[in-house]
Amino acid sequence: MPTDGDGEVTVTPCEDGPLLVRGNFRLVTQEGREIDPGRATVALCRCGLSSTKPFCDGSHRVAGFRATSDPDPAT
Ligand code: FES
Repeated sequence: MPTDGDGEVTVTPCEDGPLLVRGNFRLVTQEGREIDPGRATVALCRCGLSSTKPFCDGSHRVAGFRATSDPDPAT
């Protein structure tokens, strides 16, 4: 099981890219079947274009996907 040492899970939206998930997380299908992330940190697609969903395959770069990493930059 991936862990960052203190058990906390963090999800980081990357500017114009995927969601990075770190920590003691479990990735499961809608039916609850475990998905082996294969690593301690995973990049989950949020552009909808990856051919390896739920993982990012870099397609967001080619497509010019745009999304902020901070929905409230004033805080
Ligand atoms: S966010 Fe990278 S392929 Fe979708």
